[in-house]
Amino acid sequence: PRQPGSGRTIVLVGLMGAGKTTIGRLLATRLGVPFVDSDEEIERAAGCTIADLFQRYGEAEFRRGERLVIRRLLSGPPVVLATGGGAFMDGRTRASVREHAVSIWLRCPLDVLVQRVADRTHRPLLNNATPHAVLADLMRLRHPVYAEADIIVDCGDDNVEHSADHVLHAL
Ligand code: S3P
Repeated sequence: PRQPGSGRTIVLVGLMGAGKTTIGRLLATRLGVPFVDSDEEIERAAGCTIADLFQRYGEAEFRRGERLVIRRLLSGPPVVLATGGGAFMDGRTRASVREHAVSIWLRCPLDVLVQRVADRTHRPLLNNATPHAVLADLMRLRHPVYAEADIIVDCGDDNVEHSADHVLHAL
């Protein structure tokens, strides 16, 4: 099978609702490599949901686990890796992604994100305010950092097949 980005792992970054998991699965199928979702890996390793992790141990502990899981995945064979929206905000994670993978920011307008974040089970950050307010704040904080990704793909047209095509062309 064709290897992504000349044999390197592809790391998808972006806010909750940007389509990292959905577009990641499509990309992995097209490229013939495994798809991995860091949120799922963390839940598997912890044996509980991300909401439980936040509640029992706090966000900082979740972030520590997230960094370790991503570092382990980056040391393995090439995959398409969808990361949780906060993962790329960690400086050490960004450094290992830079070293081992091609990073792609799936950039998405606020209104599209808001429409897509109905599934809250792994998104405790959306529990205590309106998704619109939370995502608008995160956008201000995170977009300047996501912009450090190797490739930026605009995913606002709400068509995940299109977005996957754009990513494949950009690789
Ligand atoms: C988070 C995003 C979530 C999950 C956790 C924290 C964030 O992942 O990792 O709830 O900080 O943006 P998705 O981006 O896959 O929703």
